[in-house]
Amino acid sequence: MKASERVEALLVQMTIEEKIAQMVQIPYAQTGREESLRWAKLGAGSFLHVLGDNAREIQQAALHTRLGIPVLFGIDAVRGHALNDHATIFPTQLACACSWDREIVREMGRVTAREVATDGLHWTFSPLLCLSRDPRWGRVNETFGEDPYLTGELAAALIEGYQGDDLASPESIAACAKHFIAYGEATGARDANDSSVTYRKVREVFLPPFQKAVDAGCATFMTAYGAIDGTPLTADRHMLRDILRDEMGFDGLVVTDWSNVTSLVRNQHVAADGEEASLLAALAGNDMMMNSPEFYECALRLVREGKLDEAVIDGAVRHILTVKERMGLFEHPEKTGVPGCIGCQEHQQAALTAARRSVTMLKNNGVLPLQKAKKIAVIGANGNDIRAQYGDWTYFTHPRPTPRQDAVRPYTTIWESVKKLAEENGMACEYAYGCGPVPSTRDDLEDAVQAAQGADAIILVVGDEISQIGEAKDRANLMLSGSQIALFARLRELRVPIITVLLSSKPLALGAVADETDALIVAFNGGAHGGQAVAEAIFGVLNPSGRLPISFPRHSGQVPVYYNQLPGWHGGNYCDLPQTPQFAFGEGLSYTDFSYAELWVDENTLTASVRVTNTGNRAGLETVQVYFRDCVSSVLTPVKSLTQYRQIFLEPGESRQVAFQLSRSDFSLVNQREERVTEPGEFILMIGHSSRDEELLQAHFCLK
Ligand code: BGC
Repeated sequence: MKASERVEALLVQMTIEEKIAQMVQIPYAQTGREESLRWAKLGAGSFLHVLGDNAREIQQAALHTRLGIPVLFGIDAVRGHALNDHATIFPTQLACACSWDREIVREMGRVTAREVATDGLHWTFSPLLCLSRDPRWGRVNETFGEDPYLTGELAAALIEGYQGDDLASPESIAACAKHFIAYGEATGARDANDSSVTYRKVREVFLPPFQKAVDAGCATFMTAYGAIDGTPLTADRHMLRDILRDEMGFDGLVVTDWSNVTSLVRNQHVAADGEEASLLAALAGNDMMMNSPEFYECALRLVREGKLDEAVIDGAVRHILTVKERMGLFEHPEKTGVPGCIGCQEHQQAALTAARRSVTMLKNNGVLPLQKAKKIAVIGANGNDIRAQYGDWTYFTHPRPTPRQDAVRPYTTIWESVKKLAEENGMACEYAYGCGPVPSTRDDLEDAVQAAQGADAIILVVGDEISQIGEAKDRANLMLSGSQIALFARLRELRVPIITVLLSSKPLALGAVADETDALIVAFNGGAHGGQAVAEAIFGVLNPSGRLPISFPRHSGQVPVYYNQLPGWHGGNYCDLPQTPQFAFGEGLSYTDFSYAELWVDENTLTASVRVTNTGNRAGLETVQVYFRDCVSSVLTPVKSLTQYRQIFLEPGESRQVAFQLSRSDFSLVNQREERVTEPGEFILMIGHSSRDEELLQAHFCLK
């Protein structure tokens, strides 16, 4: 790759020390101010986990070095700029994915970029494009769910939101597609384990969302922790160079994940020492090493001893400087953002809209919307716990770089919002803690039963909490934890309608709760305004429109239950459980109903159409989902795959013909030679309300 004249001219002037320093990314909070300043003076290319004035000080130190190359500042702003305690906190990626709405996600990106840039930073380590095909994994909340198509669509939108039309704009930041690749598929869902996949499967299932990230112009990629077939991704030259750059066309910067170089020695044992690890990482195609500072000395020695060609270093530095140039940092090292915008009213409104669109109703026997009750009881720790509502990657859970621990308003919990709406409707309301997801001395089921006595409806909030979410917090047991099932059983004895709200980071196995509750709303981690959105759905102010981006297992032992499985000889079910998930990908109810009719496909033009009618008496948003199945293929192909979808808003009684333009490539597969091809033959197109067979109309067609 040839870079701009400015970058080439800089490279010519740079010493080998200055070049290698560019490849080093220093974690400010862990390293401390003095040591960070020393690195800045050495010319370190990037820092992470540093905010505001501390970042400005580092930048000034860098600008006063011999060549004055600006520093690139990175941060995990993965649901808004949430490591800053005054920023706008959005729902998690998983919660946002329930909206299936590219514009909602794009707006989250725009708002986040503005706030990050206003803090003087340049780069977010987001979006996360791993697929959550095993809900035991601790990082499911950070994903867009289980499906490659939906993940790719939403990731592209988020990247567009972060980066805008021009990376050099004061309001744009660089995005980072992570973690490359198959990180979510770690064996046993144990975080950062090796992934039991083949390269063919990687191409078929995991690359497509990342290709969309490349096509959306994503400026940076992050290498995954794991390994495929014995090769750590950090050392996987074939993956990082041949596939990512040469085949997929990525021309940006590749950063390792945290300590990936060090880990080649300490955890993965494929390198004997820092030098060997540094050589592997550089040759494989990692441009910047996150938190592996020994890379600096090791790489210097390797070049001086002739073991590492300086051209490899030049290639990496070219990528780094080119991103800095595209971001306009040589002219404006500090992004200005929009002064005063952090946590502003307009941004809070965007977070509220996202939270509303994320609310997903999975069951309703008629108790919702709650309109006639005189007294309501809200029960459960998660009903009034903003930490649980936020999930991880916020200033609570990552005390660095923001040390403060108090919750900063504005936010509302479910209890606060229910109380407000109930009182406005003249209903009495009471809250009891009952129990949390993790046993504690506060657990008091008797008190909860007391509070619920005489109520006309119980809102029971269950889920998980921070100690059960995130990196290295994988769960072997997905059943509701602590005394939550016992609490449900006690409340059930009262014979009062129960509205269960699942406030969790991921699908959990709800067991009897799913079967016996009168209504079920999934909220996931809705951010600052998640409580308000849930309360509005309960009282019917909001007509819920969320659709699951991930399937719910009936039992931990039933996973995986993702909808796009390969066909099995014997149907693939266990003898003690139905084959179907508890709740399926694409599923979600509203306060109206939609019917589907008149599906047709024109196999010459590859157009498809279906008539969708709002048969209820309330306006609503429907997500029209298009799946296909390849009837005969040279390799096993999924029983169905999502290939497009469209959201339409219909008034009561309104009916609309919804047309889709398909293309041959929508029906492609990866063959045994690892080539993506479309094989002629018979296909089934399925259009409907969710991935469940009974909710899909089918039409056969042939591709010549
Ligand atoms: C995570 C990344 C994150 C990085 C920096 C790692 O532990 O895997 O997703 O961006 O830390 O905080």
